[in-house]
Amino acid sequence: MLARLFRTKSLEQLRASAEAPEFRLKKNLRAFDLMMFGVGAIIGAGIFSTIGTAAAGNLADGRLPAGPALLVSFILTAIACGFTALAYAELASMIPVSGSAYTYAYATLGELTAWIIGWDLLLEYAVSNVAVAISWGDYMRSFLANVLHLHIPGWLATDPRSAFSLVADAPALSLSAKLELLGQARQGLVDGAATFARWDVLQSAPLVFGFPITINLLAVLITVAITWLVYRGIKESASANNWMVLLKVVILLAVVALGARFVQMSNLVGDPPSWQSFAPSGWKGIQAGAAIIFFAFIGFDAVSTTAEECRDPGRDMPRGILGSLVVCTIIYVLVAGVVTGMVHYAELAGKADPLAYVFEKYHLTALAGVIAFGAVIATTAALLVYQVGQPRIFLAMSRDGLLGPWFGKVHAKHGTPANATLLTGVLVAVPAALLNISEVVELTNIGTLFAFALVCVAVMVLRVRRPEAPRRFRMPFMWVLAPLGILGCIWLARGLPALTWYRFLGWLALGLLVYFLYGFRNSRLREQRGVQPCSQD
Ligand code: ALA
Repeated sequence: MLARLFRTKSLEQLRASAEAPEFRLKKNLRAFDLMMFGVGAIIGAGIFSTIGTAAAGNLADGRLPAGPALLVSFILTAIACGFTALAYAELASMIPVSGSAYTYAYATLGELTAWIIGWDLLLEYAVSNVAVAISWGDYMRSFLANVLHLHIPGWLATDPRSAFSLVADAPALSLSAKLELLGQARQGLVDGAATFARWDVLQSAPLVFGFPITINLLAVLITVAITWLVYRGIKESASANNWMVLLKVVILLAVVALGARFVQMSNLVGDPPSWQSFAPSGWKGIQAGAAIIFFAFIGFDAVSTTAEECRDPGRDMPRGILGSLVVCTIIYVLVAGVVTGMVHYAELAGKADPLAYVFEKYHLTALAGVIAFGAVIATTAALLVYQVGQPRIFLAMSRDGLLGPWFGKVHAKHGTPANATLLTGVLVAVPAALLNISEVVELTNIGTLFAFALVCVAVMVLRVRRPEAPRRFRMPFMWVLAPLGILGCIWLARGLPALTWYRFLGWLALGLLVYFLYGFRNSRLREQRGVQPCSQD
């Protein structure tokens, strides 16, 4: 039984399956394309939306503010990601097979771990896209309001969980208690604005049996549109991607260049300067901020999924992965410094479109509109990357027999994984209508951190088990940096609220159930080779 759980695919088997003529992909990507692909996947909702919550925290949910020390959070997160990126680079140069962490785990840690990672990648791809869709909706609303003077009513642009959030320092209440308070506020018995953070939304929402209806419609619409495109087989060409990446970078650099003029030192370090003003919750706040903005770094690992299409993966994979991480880190640190310098960090609380907000605050409405437009394009591109990626992970798992054949069904005309694409659309659209962006970001982060930690383990396992296998890129000081990568992931995950941990454990438990009910019995590896102990590799 144990041997079956830890059966592995050998490196040779993996390479051979990728080189089989029917699966061989065109190899025309170079280091620059990979770097652009990486930047395209990295820059999205994270920098455009979550920096507000990370800087200002949310006392009602127990999230501590990082304050202007968010800069430090960005640097520490980049270092932790850097260690993992080196591990990814070694594995991607050694196993140039798409499938990324799922494939590496299958090669090293066995089928059960591979399944867990595949299940976990659902959090990284599908659940992160929920957050990106929500962010898209927020910036689209801001763009429509600032540029076209078209105002979408709050109840059509807010999820119910955010609509019911209480003011920052109120104690947590059950839904029925909140509904009772809402009734009293509607009758004027309690001050609604002093009780509910989004009183404006609740006040205007239509009632059905006394229950206010609020939904994030824009987030749903963009998900449906992207799913339709992906279903029809849209492929982002490398050149279209390069343009979108350029636009994202230009918008962020414009925020830095134009915003720098409005930076006030007193916002950054206080007046008189003090550590307390710079880091209002000390290291705990820096850690909490890092745990949230980790979301902004997710994506450098996606470069490894293009390994089969890369001309010289041994040389270019490490360049693409590390290069995109370095470029984004530099931009992020500058943006964080400017945004927290333009306004007092506490003002960013609950702002879903912080980069547009800081310019609105200085009455630069047109500029805020341009930035909102840039964010809409940036997040559309990120949505597309992950909405294309998720069905392909389903497909890979279905080919391995870990998921049923339904997930791997390819559309006769469009040549896309049709069922998996539609399923991904539903899995993203429904939560996007109903959930709060912070919860979704945190769940994505904990899942991705878990996968990153396992990749650091995988690189060590392969050094022991296959020391002779050719490695075009070797992670320097591996025995120091890989454990540091794991510690970095643990440090970041510990910055997340307890509720996120419980949700994640629940998710893993569900994954194990699915594996034992289906994948364990139906694995192709078992069919092909019978039971193989992991020492075979
Ligand atoms: N890093 C990606 C984003 O920020 C997931 O949207």
